Amino acid sequence: MSNKCAIVTGGAGFIGSHVVDALLGDDWRVVVVDDLSTGDADRVAGEATLETVDITDRAALDAVVDAAQPAAVFHLAAQSSVTRSVADPRRDCEINVVGTLNVLEGATRHGAPVVFSSTGGALYGNRAPLPTPETAPPAPISPYGASKWAGEAYLATWREASGIPHAACRLGNVYGPRQSPHGEAGVVAIFSHRLWSGESPTLFGFGKPTRDYVHVQDVAQALLAAVGQGGTFNISTGVETAVSSIFELLRAAAGVTNEGELAPLRPGELERSCIDPSRAREQLGWQAAVRLEKGLAATYHALIAEFKPDDSLGAG
Ligand SMILES: NC(=O)c1ccc[n+]([C@@H]2O[C@H](COP(=O)([O-])OP(=O)(O)OC[C@H]3O[C@@H](n4cnc5c(N)ncnc54)[C@H](O)[C@@H]3O)[C@@H](O)[C@H]2O)c1
Repeated sequence: MSNKCAIVTGGAGFIGSHVVDALLGDDWRVVVVDDLSTGDADRVAGEATLETVDITDRAALDAVVDAAQPAAVFHLAAQSSVTRSVADPRRDCEINVVGTLNVLEGATRHGAPVVFSSTGGALYGNRAPLPTPETAPPAPISPYGASKWAGEAYLATWREASGIPHAACRLGNVYGPRQSPHGEAGVVAIFSHRLWSGESPTLFGFGKPTRDYVHVQDVAQALLAAVGQGGTFNISTGVETAVSSIFELLRAAAGVTNEGELAPLRPGELERSCIDPSRAREQLGWQAAVRLEKGLAATYHALIAEFKPDDSLGAG
């Protein structure tokens, strides 16, 4: 067994579970810290150890971190919904700011670099140049964007003070297998579920909003490449795609003709988002490998194999 231990907070979540798989494939020993609030224990590979802990519970988190003695910490646990952050900004702050501080303090005690999953679009806001470089000043328009920005600030401060090379990875719009269709975000999973179940997806912003879509396996590889690379990195493709194009590509993959319903954007949502991944290419030697058309088609087929016949949507 490898001596290297990685802690993955949020490892029972969509992206975190793929990070766990990538680490196991790279011969790490993995401890997952997750309160299973949106995560699912079934997503966690059997070779990893799952600790059901809330990162805002500092004593419980410290006990897990001290027992694991990690060489690296991947911090993905978060309140990750923009609309929930608008409805309950205090809880969003508790998890994304105080929880992040707890994770940082635990990792720092063991000299372990943290790789923090931050956000691209929600951080830069609506007025940034496109594709947006890391040097653009943050201008979030939602509490979620603000709490991720605060988490990054703590990470950078702890990096300066401790000399441990913590990294912040600002992710684009991540899609892939295991993404839940029941949240308000994750348009690929939501559209896939609607098309599969014969319903009409809702295209918010009348189908016009753009995002920078990146496959979850590419993201997992980027986060592994960021271990020990102090700094801030955009992780995405740098390609801007309209929601209506995602809908068309998924319809083609599904072989159906369902029509979408058009609706206005919801509070806190951006009109356009596309982030520049040049720094990750130059400094991490990483770039996205999965092309959107192929990635979407493969994701549609992987997701419908995961959906259960009695699945009903909470939002769409
Ligand atoms: N999905 C995207 O497109 C995207 C884009 C940018 C950034 N991110 C960030 O990536 C990370 C993972 O996102 P995801 O899409 O996999 O979301 P997810 O909701 O599937 O995963 C988050 C995980 O964190 C866990 N969690 C939540 N609160 C917790 C707490 N207090 N203590 C312990 N565990 C807790 C949940 O149970 C879940 O397993 C988040 O930090 C999110 O902000 C995601």
